Amino acid sequence: MKKKLLEIISLSKHFGGNTAISNVSFNVEEGLIVGLIGPNGSGKTTLFNCITGYYSLTSGSVMFDGHDITRIKPDKACRIGMVRTWQRVKPLGNLNVLENVMIGAFSKTRSAGESRKIALAQLDLLGMSELSSNTAGDLPIGLKKKLELARALATSPKLLLLDEICGGLNNTETLELMETIRIIRNNGVSIVFIEHDMKAVTGLCDRIVVLKSEQKLVEGTPSDITGNHDVIAAYLGKGYKHA
Ligand SMILES: Nc1ncnc2c1ncn2[C@@H]1O[C@H](COP(=O)(O)OP(=O)(O)O)[C@@H](O)[C@H]1O
Ligand SMILES: [Mg+2]
Repeated sequence: MKKKLLEIISLSKHFGGNTAISNVSFNVEEGLIVGLIGPNGSGKTTLFNCITGYYSLTSGSVMFDGHDITRIKPDKACRIGMVRTWQRVKPLGNLNVLENVMIGAFSKTRSAGESRKIALAQLDLLGMSELSSNTAGDLPIGLKKKLELARALATSPKLLLLDEICGGLNNTETLELMETIRIIRNNGVSIVFIEHDMKAVTGLCDRIVVLKSEQKLVEGTPSDITGNHDVIAAYLGKGYKHA
């Protein structure tokens, strides 16, 4: 059996009287791509914020690589190998593309030369080398999303949490990015993937977790999920064609 890299155990998050996540549990085994899907407002981004220490949990716990990281801070989470991208991308707009990616690499090295080398390798993987000296703020949304991914990869993560990385991309860009994500996984990085594009989700994920109304509705393989009547009723819609 594969080793559990991430364990989310009965996680709940309340904002005042509002429940954003209620008693959600699931695991991510090493080497897998796990999809997290569900209607808008079902708690997907909040779950990422809780796992990576941007929000404190109301109750429950999170284990990473065998260690309890329930109260971890985001910078520490990144140092131990867990990094996320943001649904609303956050490049440092005045810096160039290379400098933005080097910021990720500086979480693991203090050497500017080393960080430059790591950053250039990630830009190469994403086909963005020629944009190294472009100002990050001027990039179109599709490239800002890839820049976000390059910066996350430059931290050398064991687990990458992607929040709607394909949002705003056209079909060709989405297919390209899916191929890149597959390569990243084959390079040994485990991935949790929040996405609405079901072609991307079913094409990439080994397992899918479905959230609905702050709770886990079900989890299973892509074909379990796309054929599940509750998931069709809650999220996919009646017109969805079973993959
Ligand atoms: N900082 C916050 N303060 C108050 N409520 C929040 C905050 N962040 C998220 N929420 C609430 O949590 C719920 C889940 O939101 P979110 O995690 O963004 O959903 P999703 O990513 O699935 O669309 C929503 O009702 C949202 O309004
Ligand atoms: Mg979200």
